Amino acid sequence: MSRIAYVDGRFVPHNAAAIHIEDRSVQFADAVYEVWGVKDGALLDSDGHFTRLERSLGELKIAMPVGREALAEALFELIRRNRLRNGLVYLQVSRGKARRDHAFPGPDVKPCVIATAKRVDFAALVKKAETGIAVKTMPDQRWARCDIKTVSLLANVLAKQAAKETGAQEAWLTDRDGFVTEGSSSNAWIVTPEGALVTRPASNAILNGITRRTLISVAQGRGLTFEERPFTVDEALAAREAFITNASSMLMPVVTIDGQPVGNGHPGSLTTELRTAYQDSAVAAAHKKTARAASRPVARRAKRRISSGQPTARTVEQRRERDPPCPMTRNRTFRTFFSTRSASPRRR
Ligand code: PDD
Repeated sequence: MSRIAYVDGRFVPHNAAAIHIEDRSVQFADAVYEVWGVKDGALLDSDGHFTRLERSLGELKIAMPVGREALAEALFELIRRNRLRNGLVYLQVSRGKARRDHAFPGPDVKPCVIATAKRVDFAALVKKAETGIAVKTMPDQRWARCDIKTVSLLANVLAKQAAKETGAQEAWLTDRDGFVTEGSSSNAWIVTPEGALVTRPASNAILNGITRRTLISVAQGRGLTFEERPFTVDEALAAREAFITNASSMLMPVVTIDGQPVGNGHPGSLTTELRTAYQDSAVAAAHKKTARAASRPVARRAKRRISSGQPTARTVEQRRERDPPCPMTRNRTFRTFFSTRSASPRRR
């Protein structure tokens, strides 16, 4: 089945999806993004990611293109059209397209929204978690607002590549005082010899990971000792366990840092326990949310068609004929779009 992407109100084949050459994400990285894990068709930590999206947009003074619920519907529709069970959904909102000029364009320029979905081999991820990953440390060369999830990721890209070239799977970035800020695409954690869970506090120096936040409440719910404070590379090397968190790998044990073993050089028992606990908690919460959404009439009918093997999406050509472009405006929500156009079974 070919992949389907979402571009400004339309579902299009992935290989034909395109944005304007003067979209400000291209010229200035003037855009924010979010990545959701998808498990059994449900978005993990859904609300947390939407809250952070709204915050990131607010920090850059980009208007939220439509309401959260309408955006969520677009993502669920994307999951449905891609028949995605396990994987990731990527959403990006740019300031929009405008003639190149550093200052913001006028209010007539509307944000541009794109989204993609991709499969992840969860069995491979589980296997990777059984052996753990290697990290390489390097100086943090990013800007001073790492709390905003912008697409300006060049320093992260260079760090990840440098790690990869030494055989490591993640880079741990360090500040001027030798403290670990975070990974190039993850938050960094250690378990001290006394068994305390440690991660750096949220500030402008790191992205406040949604997986990180959920894990903090999971750990607190289990009565674990939790310390939100910076730690050095030396402390990490002397730690009992280390791991990273993010939406794409959930919790992943770190077994070596710069080639030196952490603990006994194998995934730690607390890390493994927390990985399961996080997954159970996030999946249960997501399924509860999906069950509520599935009780809505349109979703129920779509679900019935999936289970009966009936086609759920028209071909793009058919859709293009019936559905002229639907640019998002604040007056026209995705809900209107879906209920009157492509997702409405009544019109099939
Ligand atoms: N990255 N720190 C950085 C720099 C990140 O890029 C990410 C996530 C995280 C963890 O955030 P969360 O738990 O909300 O996924 C921390 C995503 C997965 C990415 O860029 O693909």
